[in-house]
Amino acid sequence: MRTEGDTWDINTSVGSTAVFVAAARALAGRRPEPLAVDPYAEVFVRAAGPEWADLLDGKVTEHSLLDPGFGASFQTFQEARTRYFDDYFAAVMAAGVRQIVILAAGLDARAYRLPWPDGTIVYELDLPPVLEFKRQALAANGDKPRADRREVPVDLREDWPKALREHGFDPAAPTAWLVEGLLPYLPADATDQLFDNIERTSAPGSRVAIEELGKQPEPAGTEVEQPESVVAARSDWESLVYNEQRPDAVRWFTARGWHAEGISLPDYLESLGRKTAVASDSVQLMPSLIGLTTAVRPAS
Ligand SMILES: C[S@@+](CC[C@H](N)C(=O)[O-])C[C@H]1O[C@@H](n2cnc3c(N)ncnc32)[C@H](O)[C@@H]1O
Repeated sequence: MRTEGDTWDINTSVGSTAVFVAAARALAGRRPEPLAVDPYAEVFVRAAGPEWADLLDGKVTEHSLLDPGFGASFQTFQEARTRYFDDYFAAVMAAGVRQIVILAAGLDARAYRLPWPDGTIVYELDLPPVLEFKRQALAANGDKPRADRREVPVDLREDWPKALREHGFDPAAPTAWLVEGLLPYLPADATDQLFDNIERTSAPGSRVAIEELGKQPEPAGTEVEQPESVVAARSDWESLVYNEQRPDAVRWFTARGWHAEGISLPDYLESLGRKTAVASDSVQLMPSLIGLTTAVRPAS
């Protein structure tokens, strides 16, 4: 269960979800014709502990990420969202935006992976132990960022715009924000506050990309029985999220004069020619409740 002001490191509570999604990215990148490849995901997963390395090395057979229903769909979900947000950043670079803020960066390696133009600054916000694990794992692997990467160790339930400014953030420059894999871990009112902070800290010409997750319905009792590993993973995850109705990002930003567009995960996959790549909601993934949104604040 979550509590106010709770904290974690990379292997506990919400921190461990960063490893879980990195493992899904690493596994998805090995499949034929992946939608996105993140070579750093494997570096992080191996550094997270031997049980994670065993998963990548095929020494584990019972794991929710290997399940042909849930696991395959979850891998597709992760590679799809990686692709969507990588494309978002390609548009950001083309638009000349050079100030990037990744909220709840976790094990996002875009500062190392994407071809940032000279002068780009990438701010990464997360709890201190998560950022520390990330820095150590990549340094041990000899990796260097491709932008001016700045860590901002902060709890996103606190005054993070202040922390961002203290690390050099320029509120007068257009910013590209990323909110990926974060909202379910914040209470609904904190989501509203987060959007508000982004809006108030965004100069004209700023952009934001957001992954949304709708409120999950209560189990109907008619669900197809799942393997133990999937049931356990689901129950662990449920104990970490706030299953609440959140503001709709397209509506929220449109109401404030931004140009916003959203697409559901199934529709996005269909647009990529992968219509049947995620299994139906009965495998407890709820793809229809996952949305990908981009909004642009007009330059003038
Ligand atoms: C599922 S991971 C996603 C990480 C990354 N964005 C990605 O997509 O790979 C969730 C991340 O949110 C971070 N997080 C959640 N709540 C947070 C909070 N209140 N303050 C700072 N970080 C938070 C966790 O530490 C973790 O790194």
